[in-house]
This record gives sequence, structure tokens and C-alpha cells, in this order.
Amino acid sequence: MLQRFGRPVAHPFDADGAVTAIRLGDGAAAGATVVVASKEYDEEERAGRFLYGTSASRLRQVYNNLTGHKKSTGNTNLLWWQDRLFALMENARPQELDPATLGSLGTTDLGVVRDGFSAHPHRVAALSTTFNFGIRGKHIDLFALPDHGAPRLLGSFEAPWISMVHDFIATDKHLVFVIGPAKLITWRAMFAVGDLSQYFRWDPDAGAMVVVVPLACPERVTRFLVDTFWVWHFVNAFEDGDSIAVELCRHDTFGAFAAPSSAGPEHGQPQYYRFRLDPRRELFEGTPLWSDPAEFPSVDPRRAGARQRFTFLQTFPAAQKAPGVARFDCESGEVQAWAAPSTHLGVEPVFVPGGGDEEGAGWILQLFQDPAAGRSYLAVLDAEHLAAPPLARIWMPEAVPMTFHGVFVKAP
Ligand SMILES: [Fe+2]
Repeated sequence: MLQRFGRPVAHPFDADGAVTAIRLGDGAAAGATVVVASKEYDEEERAGRFLYGTSASRLRQVYNNLTGHKKSTGNTNLLWWQDRLFALMENARPQELDPATLGSLGTTDLGVVRDGFSAHPHRVAALSTTFNFGIRGKHIDLFALPDHGAPRLLGSFEAPWISMVHDFIATDKHLVFVIGPAKLITWRAMFAVGDLSQYFRWDPDAGAMVVVVPLACPERVTRFLVDTFWVWHFVNAFEDGDSIAVELCRHDTFGAFAAPSSAGPEHGQPQYYRFRLDPRRELFEGTPLWSDPAEFPSVDPRRAGARQRFTFLQTFPAAQKAPGVARFDCESGEVQAWAAPSTHLGVEPVFVPGGGDEEGAGWILQLFQDPAAGRSYLAVLDAEHLAAPPLARIWMPEAVPMTFHGVFVKAP
């Protein structure tokens, strides 16, 4: 909801979320886009003005900061866990949704969340557990959500500074964080001076801090500084002998924050990297795997936390003059790619595992918007033959909002 009450939001990260759902089955498709109607959203609707986030009046923002009031907008990602659906944002409690209607059921602390619950949980297939973190001032809380049973608070560690931390990654033995030098200017945030984009200061001289948390002993954290870079999204990580392989889309700077867009990184050229991380030697050595700019990465969820062969990435107009999806073969370096017409806008490709156990067998679902036609469509691609034309395009009668992240859920 980039506009409400007749004006644009101060920053896209402030916007109320909406969930677009497309249901496929029995030879038919149906869809809807539903706004994440949090309690605070409803309160704003009744008041006829913004009361939360940096679009609210300055006085109201200071009041919210002093009283700890905030809105969980659910504008970034979705989590499907134990047959429950949650809309997530960077730094608030999850907003639970009714999977049938997408209606909001209110926020939940899942019994463990103290303040934030990030929008990037990661499930480690071998552990049948989804891990996540939450920012609580300078503290980062660590959560484990098993496929069966109650969530657990694993512990907390203190960050070197209050930064935006968008994502992390997990193996079957470690959680890995990179805390970039996008430092919160506390007085600006507290007294609402400027909008969200002015609350963070990029301090490249500070370096980036790598934090490694052993799952067997979460309080025994290793941390060390490395040369500055920025990461929005990790690809995967896995144990590799004495070291940990960490894959991510590396940005030189925090520039994309000024204009976050699913349609392309106008302010940066993210590159797919693999780092060798050895916590004992404080080593973090990176190599680019692919030269084309790419973001919104994923792997076959059955390989998450273990060495994968295939990586799926969203590609951008800068590289191919068209938005699309690529499959990178980590063994051969071969790239298969498909791109939509250059005038279309694309978002994160979502991998759907096929029937068998073979890694990479399945489908890619990717949402596109054709602005000239004023309509959106879901492209369904064969994940093993990505260069081939889509198996199907599911057209919607109108353009749906561009999204950040998505999930595939198999109907019970
Ligand atoms: Fe994200």
C-alpha cells in the first residue's frame, strides 16, 4: 500500500503489506490480493490518517517510540509453519493470517518473540527446523521453530551497533550473520527527524561483522570484522570440512535502501558470491560465482542448509534487458535462464519441488507485471529446462502490486 489517505508513504518499508495468493489445482486458477489488516491498520482507517511508521505525524512518532507502539505491516515475506500462515516484516511480531481467507488474525509472539521476528526465517531440511532471529535494540534474539512442537528461544547475542539486519543463514550446525555498517542514528529515529531512509548512516570504514553461532552451544558466539560489504539476501550455507560455505548476493553498498525495488537494483549490482568461513581462523574469503547481477536467490528447500547443486536467482534488466530467472549449476557453472519481455516487471522466483527426490526437479513460479497491459501474470517454468518458454502463464484481470517474497504451500 504505497499510498493511503491520498498521499504516498514516507518509505516503501513503511507500507502496509498485501498478500497476493494464487491457487492452482483441478485445471483451474483463482487468485486474490488482500491487505494485511493489522489492528493498527484498522485504527488508521478509522482515524483517516497515518498513526504508525514514519508516515505518521512527528508528535505521534515520538509518542509511539516512547510507548513502544508499532504496526506489524506484514509487508515483506510469508512464513508457512505448522499449517499456520504468517505475514512478516523486518522488525515486529508476526502477523498471523487465516490461510483460507488471508484475513488478519492479529500478531503473535509464538511464545518466544520478545520484540522483533525477522522477515527471513530459514528452514534447515536436515534438522526439520526453521530458524529465525529478531532485533531487540542492540540485541539479536535467536529462535528455533521445529516442524513439530513448540518454538524455542535459543539465546541472544549483542551486535556491535544497531544496524538493519535483513537476513541471515543457517547450516545444520551454525547460524551465520553479517552485520553491515548501516548504523541506526538513534536520535533521528527517536525524534522522527526525516523519514526512514534518513535513519541509517552508511559507515564503510567500520567494516562488516561476521557472527557465527554454534547451534550446539548458542552462547559461544564467534565474531570478527571483515571488509565492508552489504547483504540483503543469503543464498544458502553448508558445512564444508573444517569451514562453512556461505553463499549470498553481495552488494558493495547500502545504496539499494534508498529505493528498494523488486523490479531491479538501480543502486547496486549485486553479485552471487561464495565465502569460505573459518571461525577459528577468523577467515571469511569470498569468490564471485557469476558475473551477472542477480538477487532474490533460493535453493531447492530439500537442500537448504546442505551443499546444493542448483541455485535459482532473479535476474535484472541491466544484464539481459529483461527481468527473469536463472538457474546456476554450482558443479559446472552452467547457467540456464529465461527472461520476460523487457517492458515487464518481475519479482522473486519461487521454486516448487517436483514429485521425486532429485534436486532441482520441479517448477519455478514467478510473478510478472505487464504495465502496458495493466495486468499481471504468474509464469510457470520447468525448473530443469529454464531456457524453454513457460509451461503456462496465468493472467490476472488486473495488475497486482509488486511483491518482495513468496512461498509455495501444498494444499492439505
Ligand atoms: Fe528480503
